[in-house]
Amino acid sequence: MPEFQSVRGFHDLYGEELKKFKHVSNLIREKLRVYNFEEIILPVVEYAEVFQRSIGEATDIVQKEMFTFQDRKGRWLALRPEGTAGAVRAYVQNKLYALKPYVKVFYEGPMFRYERPQAGRYRQFHQIGVEVFGSLDPVVDAELIQLVYEILSELGVNVVIEINSIGCKVCRPSYREALVNYLESVEGHLCEVCYDRKDRNPLRVLDCKVPTCKEAVKEAPKMVDYLCQECKDHYSKLKDYLSLLSIPYRENPYLVRGLDYYTKTVFEAVSTDLDITVIAGGRYDYLVEELEGPPTPAVGFAVGLERLSMLLKEIPPEEPLYFVAPFGDVMDYSLAVAKALRLEGRRVELSYRKGGLRKQLEFANKLGARYVVIVGDEEKAGGFYTLKDMETGEQFRIEFSPAM
Ligand code: HAM
Repeated sequence: MPEFQSVRGFHDLYGEELKKFKHVSNLIREKLRVYNFEEIILPVVEYAEVFQRSIGEATDIVQKEMFTFQDRKGRWLALRPEGTAGAVRAYVQNKLYALKPYVKVFYEGPMFRYERPQAGRYRQFHQIGVEVFGSLDPVVDAELIQLVYEILSELGVNVVIEINSIGCKVCRPSYREALVNYLESVEGHLCEVCYDRKDRNPLRVLDCKVPTCKEAVKEAPKMVDYLCQECKDHYSKLKDYLSLLSIPYRENPYLVRGLDYYTKTVFEAVSTDLDITVIAGGRYDYLVEELEGPPTPAVGFAVGLERLSMLLKEIPPEEPLYFVAPFGDVMDYSLAVAKALRLEGRRVELSYRKGGLRKQLEFANKLGARYVVIVGDEEKAGGFYTLKDMETGEQFRIEFSPAM
């Protein structure tokens, strides 16, 4: 093993994995174009407080998973563990609300969380995040879920969309109280972590993967039974819109999220093959205010690009590769052929290695070339090249006069 290894949880993306990753990213970007989202490029580093305030002090992300460090003046900075907090900070700082009746942005880039690495879980991973600021209307939630559904359908992955409403400032406290009371009644069955968080962050207990906890919360009270009238109407309107749009979804009354800023709608797209969440989001109607902006309801989601690309079985084939193989003293002529083919928009590789026909065909195969463009003395003298189709074995003579 070479002495220098990448940092644990930090991975290189290349080859087939990167092709899938790019396919997913491009498809989502195309969707975001037709939904008229505008890109915003946000810093990878923010003051740690931006995340502490937004995501919540009692969350795993803030307590255990942030990469924080001090700058030379002793201020605490953090590598962003997610994009929403920074997007809200940018929205407020740049007064984006002053320009438009509402704002639709997306961002793409690396996020950092000090989690235990495993399949599909990294310490540096990539998201495309989407945020809509300035509307409380459930039609926005519905359109975002529609966007998620379209992305998943076009990629052809087996995923279900789960939704829930986790209420607001008005109705959450009474639910929280009911939940804490319930959790106290089953506290003997909770894992150590949940025993601890039942008072600090009781909603997270509903999300614990430990079997005894899962069993213990089966009868727990449900937020949907505690929603205030406004939240109830919002949630039922959202479901009406989803039905109208023929979007299949599953209500999961115990769906909660690992970030504290959510209100009302939360949703996740969960892979049925691998039991991992690939896309997640929800509404956060108080966060802009929390970061000292004007009261502004908002809703968004983020796609885990590594996770979603992991689910892809295959991607559309690339356009065919032309491999230009020179034999003899014909590099000048070969350069001209490669140039002309590229100007026609074809994907062309000029062989940088010398060798006989067998060797060149071997190189072409290794590079996955569909066509080999054979250029020898005879071709150069006669003003043509020989095109060999590697799939059918057929050969064609193509007239060519260099115009370099
Ligand atoms: P999140 O659920 O923390 O939400 O992350 C969103 C997605 O990022 C996850 O569903 C998953 O696909 C991916 N992800 C998270 N952690 C990792 C990891 N360690 N390795 C690989 N992929 C990971 C948020 O980040 C919110 N900001 C989403 C949002 C936007 N809500 C409203 N607007």
